[in-house]
Amino acid sequence: MHQSNGFSYVCSSSSVLFFIFFGLVEKERWCLIYLLGAFDNMDSTSTTSNGDDNTVVTQAPNAPVTAQRKLNVDLQSQLPKPYLPRALVAADPDHPNGTEGRDHHNMSVLQQHVSFFDRNKDGIVYPWETYQGFRAIGCGIPLSLAAAVIINFAFTIQTKKGWLPSPLLPIYIVDIHKCKHGSDSESYDTEGRFEPSKFDAIFSKYGVTRHNALTLEEMNNMLQANHNAGDFLGRGAAWAEWRLLFSLGKDEEGFLHRETIRGLYDGSLFEQLEKRRTTHSKST
Ligand SMILES: *[C@@H]1O[C@H](CO)[C@@H](O)[C@H](O)[C@H]1NC(C)=O
Ligand SMILES: *[C@@H]1O[C@H](CO)[C@@H](O)[C@H](O)[C@H]1NC(C)=O
Repeated sequence: MHQSNGFSYVCSSSSVLFFIFFGLVEKERWCLIYLLGAFDNMDSTSTTSNGDDNTVVTQAPNAPVTAQRKLNVDLQSQLPKPYLPRALVAADPDHPNGTEGRDHHNMSVLQQHVSFFDRNKDGIVYPWETYQGFRAIGCGIPLSLAAAVIINFAFTIQTKKGWLPSPLLPIYIVDIHKCKHGSDSESYDTEGRFEPSKFDAIFSKYGVTRHNALTLEEMNNMLQANHNAGDFLGRGAAWAEWRLLFSLGKDEEGFLHRETIRGLYDGSLFEQLEKRRTTHSKST
């Protein structure tokens, strides 16, 4: 309770935001955009070269948004078969085999992400395990409680065995792909694989200030752009997930790095945060 480190502070403050989804978001966003304005134009490296491959056109003159949100036309020369979703590893050009030294346990990338919260590794995430997982990555008690209730309530139905949902709100990791929601970056496919080309597009489209990172403003641009029509649940979930990721993973200058986000997808980020936190509390 008394560990008043930065993590639990941001976490408890985002727990408030967790509940006030859309009313305050706009206001707060502009406030932070204003604060982060200082970082704009720091280094405007171009994200994409137009490449030698002129045969595939990725921009339609009558759809200006296709020119604003660019794709990396050179991706195939940086990573083999970038269009092919990876079942076991979160692959990008710098990590073609996923996170170095990590055992995937034959789980899909989405299962690996969720498995961090399966504290006793029995394939089922109960609310108290969700709570422990959130505490382990440095979140405060209010957010961890809220997350456990909201997440297990929302997702237990999707993975339930048989007819009736269990009052213990279990989430079965074997069927976690049924919990995928809309209005996201689509870096997980419908079966929970990792889509390298969709992951890369996060940065080619929105990482304008630095091509391997997102500012808060750029992240918000992405969330807004990813809205599917009528999908309020997906929007809310995507917003909460990315806001939490930003508060846990941003650097001192307010950038959320590509490698941090990649670590979120395969869950290795959670393990790093937990390790950092336990070594931190041992040394103090
Ligand atoms: C990835 O794995 C392949 C096949 O095992 C290996 O040949 C290659 O060197 C690995 N690449 C990296 C960057 O580790
Ligand atoms: C993963 O599955 C393959 C093929 O079924 C098997 O050979 C391998 O031992 C499994 N690895 C782990 C870590 O379970």
